[in-house]
Amino acid sequence: MAFPYLQEMATRYARAAVAADKDGDYDTAIQNYRKAIDTLTKIVKMYPDSPLISTYLEMIKSYEKRIQQLQNDMQSISESGPKSSSEKKDVLEDIVLTQKPNVKFEDIADLKDAKQAITEAIIYPIKRPDLFPLGWPRGILLFGPPGCGKTMLAAAVANEVNGYFLYVDAANIMSKWLGEAEKNVSKIFKFARQKTEEEKVPVIIFIDEIDALLGTFSGEIGGEVRVRNQFLKEMDGIQDKDKKFHIYVIGATNKPWQLDEAFIRRFNKRIFIPLPDKEARLQLFKLYTKTLSLSQDIDFDKLVEMTDGYTASDIRDVIQAAHMRVIREFFEKNLGNGEPRSISMEDFIEVLKIRKPSVDPLYLKRYDAWYEKFKAL
Ligand SMILES: Nc1ncnc2c1ncn2[C@@H]1O[C@H](COP(=O)(O)OP(=O)(O)OP(=O)(O)O)[C@@H](O)[C@H]1O
Ligand SMILES: [Mg+2]
Repeated sequence: MAFPYLQEMATRYARAAVAADKDGDYDTAIQNYRKAIDTLTKIVKMYPDSPLISTYLEMIKSYEKRIQQLQNDMQSISESGPKSSSEKKDVLEDIVLTQKPNVKFEDIADLKDAKQAITEAIIYPIKRPDLFPLGWPRGILLFGPPGCGKTMLAAAVANEVNGYFLYVDAANIMSKWLGEAEKNVSKIFKFARQKTEEEKVPVIIFIDEIDALLGTFSGEIGGEVRVRNQFLKEMDGIQDKDKKFHIYVIGATNKPWQLDEAFIRRFNKRIFIPLPDKEARLQLFKLYTKTLSLSQDIDFDKLVEMTDGYTASDIRDVIQAAHMRVIREFFEKNLGNGEPRSISMEDFIEVLKIRKPSVDPLYLKRYDAWYEKFKAL
């Protein structure tokens, strides 16, 4: 059988499965997921060199997972009687944070420019929209190497702003709600519009790992294109001309080069979250050792020098590991009686010998190159 034919067959089974899944006809859904898996497995075997192999494998995995889920659900339904459809969990329940994250701007080491940019782009316009006759950016992209504070910053914004904060994990949207990704995107924006209109409060939609929206995988062949288009449409919809509504979309990614230009254009403010420089590393060491007992010989300047190229989260891990040496020794020697010794410079030096920076320097060059090209206007 030819490749396109098999592919079409797989798509057909997957669609049928998803449709049945939505209708609650789980037996049919499972049957069709199985057929889709069989067909995709055939493709993988017959065309092992296809560039889409990893996509197919992921799809197979996710269908298998869904079958498992459905079987579990059916089991629990038959044990506990039928569930009403209102008990089915809605996407919004998952992502609307009713409890504010426990992060404030001052818990974030350095990132002065980023904090300033966010304050000007979000906090000021929310406080005094009348001072912004020309409007303000609705789309803000945070990009930069992993572990340097993108997610943390967004959490801190949630704390500074009185309103709704929606935390959307894009990878989750794309895989968890099989075949529903685009519908969920539109649900999220609809909720945001409704809230800001009815309650006159700002709504921040934070989409973490936003590059996943453009990923090759959404549980359905071709699904990612529809998700992308839906998202672009929604982004255009929030550029309201009355400047009354406050809907912001903050996207975060460590792979900005995977975003296409139409996408990038919607984020008219782009903020680079870089690796910590000397000053930032010093702040990080101080911040994360604040509650620990340090020996006299700790030389912060030396530690800062030794951690050039480390991310903020690497530094936190290094401190944790140095502390762990002390604790381990304490339990081994004293069996937990008395008090552990202070952390010494040697503890840090030993840890740094084995813990290297998690981000490849070559990779870092790509951020600079990308920023040069798409610098915010
Ligand atoms: N600027 C910072 N100040 C203090 N701690 C930080 C900072 N940046 C990162 N960390 C620590 O590293 C952890 C990971 O940071 P965060 O999740 O914000 O990274 P990220 O930039 O979103 O990374 P990714 O691209 O992998 O999602 C945080 O939970 C925090 O402990
Ligand atoms: Mg993150």
